[in-house]
Amino acid sequence: MSKLALLGGAAAVTKDQKDTFKWPVITKEDEDAVLEVLRKGGMSGTEVTKKFEAEMAEWLGTKYALGFHNGTASVQAAMYGCKVGAGDEVICPSITYWASVVPAFSLGATPVFAEVEPDTLCIDPNDIEKRITKYTKAIVVVHYLGHPCDMDSIMKLAKKHNLKVIEDISHAQGGIYKGKKVGTIGHVGAMSLMSGKSLVAGEAGMFVTDDLEIFERALAFGHYERFDGKIQTAYLKPYSGLPLGGYKYRMHQLSAAVGRVQLKYYEKRIKEIQKAMNYFWDLLEGTPGIKAHRPAGASGSTMGGWYFPHGIYKSEELGGLSVTKFAEAVRAEGATACGPGCNRPLHLHALFNTCDVYGHGKPTRIANSKREVRQPEGSLPVSEGINARTFGVPWFKKFYPEIIEEHALAFKKAAANYKELLKSDTGNPKDLGDWHFFSHKQ
Ligand SMILES: Cc1ncc(COP(=O)(O)O)c(C=O)c1O
Repeated sequence: MSKLALLGGAAAVTKDQKDTFKWPVITKEDEDAVLEVLRKGGMSGTEVTKKFEAEMAEWLGTKYALGFHNGTASVQAAMYGCKVGAGDEVICPSITYWASVVPAFSLGATPVFAEVEPDTLCIDPNDIEKRITKYTKAIVVVHYLGHPCDMDSIMKLAKKHNLKVIEDISHAQGGIYKGKKVGTIGHVGAMSLMSGKSLVAGEAGMFVTDDLEIFERALAFGHYERFDGKIQTAYLKPYSGLPLGGYKYRMHQLSAAVGRVQLKYYEKRIKEIQKAMNYFWDLLEGTPGIKAHRPAGASGSTMGGWYFPHGIYKSEELGGLSVTKFAEAVRAEGATACGPGCNRPLHLHALFNTCDVYGHGKPTRIANSKREVRQPEGSLPVSEGINARTFGVPWFKKFYPEIIEEHALAFKKAAANYKELLKSDTGNPKDLGDWHFFSHKQ
């Protein structure tokens, strides 16, 4: 294998990248849809959003869809819909973006973190079971970085313990788990549609469900105008007209307009992403030290739009080379998306350990729980080690084989030259990864 660019060799990635990484794809149709809303003065209305909801429900095959101004609100409303409230516990993976679980705090509930599986990076059903107590109300599962969770095991557990399952599909819209669309397997599927995601509406969120009560509770919580006389859930009726949560969560219609156009082309666009990403990983199959983060080909499962794709790093196959040094070498080859790590384990953040958010006189996590929930360093070893075992890979939106091949070569070169890299490897920093890895930094 040729000399590493990091050590003075020629870089692997040299070709013009064309529109390989351009996202979202915005055309005149998106622009026209936005202008129509603007010219009508309909930014704060709901008619475009309702059309978007109907199209989303049809696409995913659910009875109901509800739009939000962002994904965080959709997660919180999904929790409220599932009756998460004072003193309840919500189980969630420690490796995810904070919005999968922090909204539990404002409902008076407490997050309880579970481990992720080292190869899928998704919540580990065996570990969930260990964390269930009589206070557990719901499980938030995150199809992390597009990889579907083990939904069969999770739904079995939920049934056994009478728990609700909230699927956070912010990374996985359009993903398939054993032939079923993710977001439609649990009791409710919530998602972000912010502009860095694979399915984009701008700053927006949505949830989908077949359960009328969950839908109407969410309407009651943050959609005051739609919480009206038509509500069917009897115990909610007396309160219609004002939002029970005290929040205003309606989607901005400029976003709804963009979302409708994006959804129309989404399946076609993610098909190309899937072809490109699978080609990239097929080229790297068998390369020591690195492994694809994707379901097995015969599983009937897919990665949806491959949001923020990562790989699994096995330093033991590269003489103990740190992922930090490995990623540095890959970036020097011109494959700049290769950063070490992913999200930091949430259970280690002070927000879940010492922070008194609402003035209870003790940490919110303790104040909200009926027992002392503490998960200090060392309590979730797989999650705590996951950042040393993951790295970013390019998110190809187009299938240009020669560009993908150059990028694959960058990773192969770094793996093949690991002995050279070991000479200057100073290891991983302690705080590898990021708390909000996925914020859109444009
Ligand atoms: C897994 C996950 N859940 C929820 C959210 C929150 O969505 P939003 O940023 O639209 O509020 C995000 C990210 O943005 C996310 O990555």
